[in-house]
Amino acid sequence: MKRRDFIKRSTLSALTAWAGSSILSACHTEEDMIGEPNWIVEGSFDRALTIPAVSNGGASLNAQFSVGELLKGRSSTTLSYANGLLGPTIKANAGETVNVSLQNSLSEETNIHWHGLILPENMDGHPKDVASAGGSLNYSLPIIQRAGTYWYHPHPHGLTAKQVFMGLAGMFIVNDPEEAALNLPSGEFEVPIILQDKHFEGNNLEYSPNDDEIMTGYLGEQILVNGQHAPFISVASTWYRLRILNGSTARVYNLGLTGGKQMIIIGSDGGLLASPETVSSILLGPGERIDVLIDFNGLEVGKEIYLVSNKFSEYNVQGRQSFSLLKFKVDRTQNSNFTLPSTLSNLDPLNPSLSVKTRIIDIAQTIGGEGGHGGMGRHSINGKIFEMDRVDETVSAGTTEIWEFDNSAGDEIHPMHIHGVQFQVLERIGGRNKVIASEKGWKDTILLMPGEKVKLIMTFPDYTGVFVFHCHNLEHEDDGMMLNYKII
Ligand code: C2O
Ligand code: CU
Ligand code: CU
Repeated sequence: MKRRDFIKRSTLSALTAWAGSSILSACHTEEDMIGEPNWIVEGSFDRALTIPAVSNGGASLNAQFSVGELLKGRSSTTLSYANGLLGPTIKANAGETVNVSLQNSLSEETNIHWHGLILPENMDGHPKDVASAGGSLNYSLPIIQRAGTYWYHPHPHGLTAKQVFMGLAGMFIVNDPEEAALNLPSGEFEVPIILQDKHFEGNNLEYSPNDDEIMTGYLGEQILVNGQHAPFISVASTWYRLRILNGSTARVYNLGLTGGKQMIIIGSDGGLLASPETVSSILLGPGERIDVLIDFNGLEVGKEIYLVSNKFSEYNVQGRQSFSLLKFKVDRTQNSNFTLPSTLSNLDPLNPSLSVKTRIIDIAQTIGGEGGHGGMGRHSINGKIFEMDRVDETVSAGTTEIWEFDNSAGDEIHPMHIHGVQFQVLERIGGRNKVIASEKGWKDTILLMPGEKVKLIMTFPDYTGVFVFHCHNLEHEDDGMMLNYKII
């Protein structure tokens, strides 16, 4: 993040927010407002949360222009796979093959990447495999991995951020017998939560990042949950399971609950942890998921608890404000016979001695200052910008490697994602200096704060071909912060 220019939207939104509160004080000089966050506009939390439709046994998706009530009482133009915003939650069992058809009713190319799924090259949604406007694609997805909360979204190079921002995304849930045996809260007690920040001009979504916003990421003022601003959900005083996806293009959330409630993390990107981790806050970067249990037992009817994002940084443009996302309203008491298991799954740590190669991947540099973004340069990986046909790294199927993403010299936040593989986190050096609770399982996306370096270990699958790895700050990705790697 370069504190160079005024971020065009922050003045207006900051003033709007300040007008209604008493935060405006003499200490906010114009100098302070350089790089101010876009102050979040909270809503009234009086609309019931929408749960996306569930699609079992495959799906047919139509990427289309649509209209949805994102803000209460106002209708906005969006993109959607269904009607309104987002797409259905696709559910599958490990071992089956899921068929999904995609109709492209947009006026530009699109495709779908199945984020977190291990798939053959031609099914992965590499940016080279797209359907042009009016075209279609058929995906046949063999599910060869464990239960987990995965997701899907478009991946056409240079258009990914906009299409996701405008509403194209959905959850993909895999179930398996190991997880089913735990009898976790299900049905209405298992709630998908897709978090996304949006920027509106009038009633409509507006995606138009300027140079500064390509550096920081495009940050919105309204936080939507499942496509709705400031909703509430009525709950019983019992156990709930929330599968939380950060589907924002760039915003990091520091999730927590009000009322002294803790979250019990049971899973991350690639499914269950070995054992539950109780936390009061968790940083969730774009693309990451957490699977949490919340114990509402003992709460009285009428009690209200909020899912919030707490301030996490003085320096980063997006970490300086706390805000609420979703309200839980206890409306009935209920006894539950669920007991939290002390062991969740069998999670074999990959032994570093199996690694045949360590790759150091520099993500801290911007390159080509003259050409890019008002002299700030373009985002790069190992000094390179994405090229569709260039293979940047070559690995062997079935082998284990250590990849070190290095942001030690960086001053931006980069959530790094690797297609086609799940990894484990061995170590974080610098910054937070530790592997956090949600990183103690299988992962496909890892958050690097400024000054951090992480060591990841992974075994590549037997699917050969070209896959990408990239920053999941989607403004960075579209800027070229993505490389190809080939499995041979
Ligand atoms: Cu969710 Cu290549 O990304
Ligand atoms: Cu992915
Ligand atoms: Cu980045």
